[in-house]
Amino acid sequence: MKWKAALTLALKKTPRTATEFAALPKHVAIIMDGNGRWAKKHHLNVSKGHRQGTEALREIIRHTDDLGIRVLSLYAFSTENWNRSEEEVSALMQLMLDFFSSEIDELDAKNVRILILGDKGRLPEKQREVLKEAEKRTERNTGLRLNIAINYGGRAEIVKAAREIAVLVRNGALQADQITEETLSDHLYTRGQPDVDLLIRTSGEQRLSNFLLYQNAYAEFVFPEVLWPDFTVHEYDLALDAYAHRDRRYGGRK
Ligand code: IPE
Ligand code: IPE
Ligand code: MG
Repeated sequence: MKWKAALTLALKKTPRTATEFAALPKHVAIIMDGNGRWAKKHHLNVSKGHRQGTEALREIIRHTDDLGIRVLSLYAFSTENWNRSEEEVSALMQLMLDFFSSEIDELDAKNVRILILGDKGRLPEKQREVLKEAEKRTERNTGLRLNIAINYGGRAEIVKAAREIAVLVRNGALQADQITEETLSDHLYTRGQPDVDLLIRTSGEQRLSNFLLYQNAYAEFVFPEVLWPDFTVHEYDLALDAYAHRDRRYGGRK
């Protein structure tokens, strides 16, 4: 759906002005946090919290696509999340498989291009295969770019870029003084994509937790209090509205 059609639809649901939508972010990044607290609140096992979280995820991806936002980056599993119990890690790994098997047809049909950010090397074989397959199947799609960060760390990503660039310099393909900010961007998982415009982290926590460190340099941050499984399209719209009212100066003056 083109974004004007989506706007008409959206306006029927929640009153808002067209100007508020004029500043739609190109790239939204979301740190989906609060599944554990949600489970605790409902006296459930933490894995139920993660499962409920994937329900929110489906709706948020759909809404992002309907609005015509170009890039959506989701933090699903950090390099630090291996520190959790084996039981929780394996529940998350299973959810990953379930998510891709239930969603891939719809995402592909909607022309969504999936990219995994992070090192697949440490993941179990089955997960690795499913993720590679999802990337391969959608690589020619031209719609929403859906980045899913799995075994991702922002510092590890920058280190990886530095190593790749060092090899180019060693081979004589590049001079050290030719290295620019763009060179570095080109060696990140998100190469070719715009920087993050809007970063949302649910559950009231206000930190990056190693997410897209380079790409978030000039992002606007919104921290809704709501726990991720309770994050609705309405909450998302509120974050988009907050973004639309921000004054992005990039160090200059109006
Ligand atoms: C975020 O929810 C999901 C992942 C880290 C995979 P949490 O599991 O971190 O939820 P809280 O922070 O414990 O509530
Ligand atoms: C960040 O959340 C990672 C994901 C949402 C996947 P965490 O809950 O793991 O981060 P900290 O521990 O609060 O920083
Ligand atoms: Mg957390």
